[in-house]
Amino acid sequence: MARPEDYLELLRRRRSRREITPSPVEPEKMERALQAAMRAASGANAQPWEYVLIERGPLRERIREMCQAADVEFHRRSPAWLREFFSTHAITPVKQFTQDAPWLVAVFGRRDLPFWLQSVWLSVANFINALEAEGLHSLTYSPSLDRRFNALLGVDENWSFQALLPVGYGNEHEKLEPRPRHSPAEKVQVIDAAGRLSPFVQRLPFEP
Ligand SMILES: Cc1cc2nc3c(=O)[nH]c(=O)nc-3n(C[C@H](O)[C@H](O)[C@H](O)COP(=O)(O)O)c2cc1C
Repeated sequence: MARPEDYLELLRRRRSRREITPSPVEPEKMERALQAAMRAASGANAQPWEYVLIERGPLRERIREMCQAADVEFHRRSPAWLREFFSTHAITPVKQFTQDAPWLVAVFGRRDLPFWLQSVWLSVANFINALEAEGLHSLTYSPSLDRRFNALLGVDENWSFQALLPVGYGNEHEKLEPRPRHSPAEKVQVIDAAGRLSPFVQRLPFEP
């Protein structure tokens, strides 16, 4: 059993990676991460997620075209602060990782099931953290794709597309911008027995 500190360290270490190499992934690593995804809590245990693993092949080119078209439009409509974030994080509509990554994982939510949206994202969180534990890299990428994407993959049109994750080994030379996190002192409030709200008092060091 890992120490709680090790789990925190794993969460601190995990980064979104936008350059994934074509190096193959050991099947058992991927399968363990998928098992972690299936272990997420879900409303009424409905497990409303559906994962589709897309191998490299001609379909990838069609996916890339769809993503790039969606992102060109998304970037065009984004407010200035978001465009600034994109440019400082080298996020452009060019989605080379859709071609390179040994696995492209499409995640859908079954919108006919209760609490589907909340539950699907808990599953994605389990998945990306488990990938990190396996020494694999991923990007949680959420292009605005519509049901033409379901049609392209041949999946149920009522599944709601949520995320497309390239999975594999990252390029060790990828430049990663710092992405500081707010501390519990900044983001957590406590309501005491008298009903007074005050910031959480931190006792442990926190590295942004
Ligand atoms: C719901 C969600 C949607 C995201 N969508 C995109 C995206 O469309 N494109 C992208 O490059 N990164 C996307 N990301 C990755 C975030 O930019 C990234 O998680 C954030 O900057 C924090 O960096 P880190 O993952 O390295 O900690 C998304 C992340 C989440 C959780």
